[in-house]
Amino acid sequence: MPSKKIMFFSLIIGLSLAGCSAESEDDRFVYSGFTGSNLTLDGNARITPSGLLELTNGTVRLKGHAFHPNPLRFHKSPNGTVQSFSVSFVFAILSTYPDLSGHGLAFFIAPSKNFSGAFPTQYLGLLNDRNNGDTNNHIFAVELDTVQNYDLEDINDNHIGIDINNLHSMQSHDAGYYDDNSGIFQRLALISNQAMQVWVSYDRETTQINVTMAQLNLAKPARPLLSTTYNLSTVLTSPAYIGFSSSTGTVSARHYVLGLSFGMNSLAPPIDIGKLSELPRLGQKVQSRTLQIILPIAIAVFLLAVITTISLLVRRNLRYAELREDWEVEYGPHRFSYKDLFDATEGFKDKNLLGSGGFGKVYKGVLTKSRSEIAVKMVAQDSNQGIKEFIAEIVSVGHLQHRNLVQLLGYCRRKGELLLVYDYMPNGSLDKYLYGKEGKPTLDWARRFQIIKCVSYGLLYLHEECEKVVIHRDIKASNVLLDNEINGRIGDFGLARLYDHGSDPEATHVVGTIGYLAPELARTGKASPLTDVFAFGVFILEVTCGQKPIKKGREDSQPMLVDWVLEHWHKGSLIDAVDIKLQGEYDASEACLVLKLGLLCSHPFTNIRPTMRQVMQYLNKEMPLPDLMPTHLSFCMLALMQNEGFSPYTISHPSSATSFGTTSGLSGGR
Ligand SMILES: Nc1ncnc2c1ncn2[C@@H]1O[C@H](COP(=O)(O)OP(=O)(O)OP(=O)(O)O)[C@@H](O)[C@H]1O
Ligand SMILES: *[C@@H]1O[C@H](CO)[C@@H](O)[C@H](O)[C@H]1NC(C)=O
Ligand SMILES: *[C@@H]1O[C@H](CO)[C@@H](O)[C@H](O)[C@H]1NC(C)=O
Ligand SMILES: *[C@@H]1O[C@H](CO)[C@@H](O)[C@H](O)[C@H]1NC(C)=O
Ligand SMILES: *[C@@H]1O[C@H](CO)[C@@H](O)[C@H](O)[C@H]1NC(C)=O
Ligand SMILES: *[C@@H]1O[C@H](CO)[C@@H](O)[C@H](O)[C@H]1NC(C)=O
Ligand SMILES: *[C@@H]1O[C@H](CO)[C@@H](O)[C@H](O)[C@H]1NC(C)=O
Ligand SMILES: [Mg+2]
Repeated sequence: MPSKKIMFFSLIIGLSLAGCSAESEDDRFVYSGFTGSNLTLDGNARITPSGLLELTNGTVRLKGHAFHPNPLRFHKSPNGTVQSFSVSFVFAILSTYPDLSGHGLAFFIAPSKNFSGAFPTQYLGLLNDRNNGDTNNHIFAVELDTVQNYDLEDINDNHIGIDINNLHSMQSHDAGYYDDNSGIFQRLALISNQAMQVWVSYDRETTQINVTMAQLNLAKPARPLLSTTYNLSTVLTSPAYIGFSSSTGTVSARHYVLGLSFGMNSLAPPIDIGKLSELPRLGQKVQSRTLQIILPIAIAVFLLAVITTISLLVRRNLRYAELREDWEVEYGPHRFSYKDLFDATEGFKDKNLLGSGGFGKVYKGVLTKSRSEIAVKMVAQDSNQGIKEFIAEIVSVGHLQHRNLVQLLGYCRRKGELLLVYDYMPNGSLDKYLYGKEGKPTLDWARRFQIIKCVSYGLLYLHEECEKVVIHRDIKASNVLLDNEINGRIGDFGLARLYDHGSDPEATHVVGTIGYLAPELARTGKASPLTDVFAFGVFILEVTCGQKPIKKGREDSQPMLVDWVLEHWHKGSLIDAVDIKLQGEYDASEACLVLKLGLLCSHPFTNIRPTMRQVMQYLNKEMPLPDLMPTHLSFCMLALMQNEGFSPYTISHPSSATSFGTTSGLSGGR
């Protein structure tokens, strides 16, 4: 290795000349990678952990500088000429885009390390718009420019140039080399993301400057790409610094230097190519290869995400889909969104199921916004028929508040489903307390009497006090709910109407609950306040006797509660009909009053039944019950009718019923 010999030789000379070892070392050096090196860095420049000198990092409008730390003496003596020197370096440009990059890098020799006044972009971090071309710059540079700048009369966007105090190159050429064998020019793309080597040499005698470049694995081509003469003695200061400068503009790139060598008055020592670090795997080629793998996956994942989102949205839409029609606009305030109800009941979970009845399931819920407790009744509903009238009625009733009605808060409609939202009644329905079921304590007499009164107030309100007559149609113990003060409240008012096809005389089925149905309902199919009174009569007997309207088990005796009570009365043992679970603790006169009133209300003939207003007067003892004898209640007739299943032909002349009962003041109605 001649270069090594020369180095040793000059070292020995330096030593023998006494005390100049540092200088001679500085005159000849090589960086085959920059790990552990003492380069002075500036701007965005950094040494990567793998030993690359990274001048810019891919961010726009940056500049970066790196300097060999010690100044070099280019002049032999203070006023002498600049000596011959030789430089080689390896660089690479990793472009963000395949055919667009900015702005380039330059090797330079400069009088100081202070480049704070230099501009990025086309000035390559070396000069600025004011000092460009100024001979006081004392800068010599070799630029590798990837942007064609017209101000600087760049020949193209892939050139190498010799710059003296001026970024307008004194000579430039398309990047490449002359092939040693053929002599043909081979173009090199600066932004090919490949490492390339550049050689710069200056001869003191001829002041010739040669610049050569080639791809990394190639030996230095014999014919220089650029060759010019310029007396650098008039340019360079002594001492001067050598280094690299780079800048990005609006288009960015990563500019790297992999190795550098320098020789004063000698050939630059060869850079050990094998030691150079690998370029980052973020290079365009690598990136595109990664893209080739990642992109399809990313697209697949993206599509999957889109499909999932859409199907989720569709499912969500289906799940929360509602039915809304124009006529409902006026009930807007009473309308709940299905989603709110869904959330309130935790998705209609079984654990929130309060019970189920003839119309559907009832769920407990808590509205997320107001934190108020609700009961949601889901009513299956096949046809739209009657829904409009029903909602009109139910909402108008819901409008009016009454302490003995379960407040209807609103509704929601879905295909085949109607949801009714009520106030939640913490103590559930009355039936659970009457028959000693579910371990609930039975209610004492005072409570029962109170509840009977509450229900009569509620019914009176429905029949007479609200804007229009509302027929409940389904009075029974399970539709009487107990609020937190154990007051009775009537629920489910008007609901039966949904299934009752209006006043259609041909309607074949009657709505209500067996045991509570007035006989004329079976005949005419038409509900009236008096059919409610009938059911109310059965209800109060139920409450007083603690038995279901149709008694179970005892086939031999009267299966109908009404008949059974009537039988007791007939035998003069009315008081025996009172619930034994009360263990004799009750007001006998009140109990008898209720039993008699119950019988009166559930009289088969409508004109004997009292109105709810009269019922209240009896209950409040404002008026005595009409003096009825059991016989006057036409026991036989009653028994006949009820046993034969409400046959409409049993009573051919209902008006004749007057002859069986004392009707004074009773059949007046309203
Ligand atoms: N607002 C409410 N608050 C608390 N519990 C209620 C409420 N509404 C209904 N429930 C409970 O849900 C159960 C079922 O009620 P649902 O009205 O569906 O059936 P039902 O009253 O037995 O028969 P019907 O369908 O004839 O009214 C009731 O027994 C009651 O315990
Ligand atoms: C780097 O420079 C510092 C002071 O500038 C010096 O102390 C140190 O020895 C140098 N290291 C190398 C490897 O040149
Ligand atoms: C590049 O350097 C700049 C300034 O130091 C910094 O803001 C930016 O985050 C860096 N970019 C990358 C990709 O490291
Ligand atoms: C170098 O030149 C400067 C002026 O150009 C002069 O002042 C100085 O004396 C010279 N020094 C030597 C050592 O010749
Ligand atoms: C660098 O040069 C600028 C002017 O270009 C000057 O303002 C600044 O003080 C200099 N910094 C140093 C450290 O010399
Ligand atoms: C420049 O290149 C020419 C042609 O190869 C050669 O003759 C000359 O010596 C070179 N000069 C320097 C300074 O390398
Ligand atoms: C270069 O310039 C210096 C000073 O300007 C001069 O002394 C020297 O002779 C010149 N060299 C050549 C080869 O002209
Ligand atoms: Mg009910």
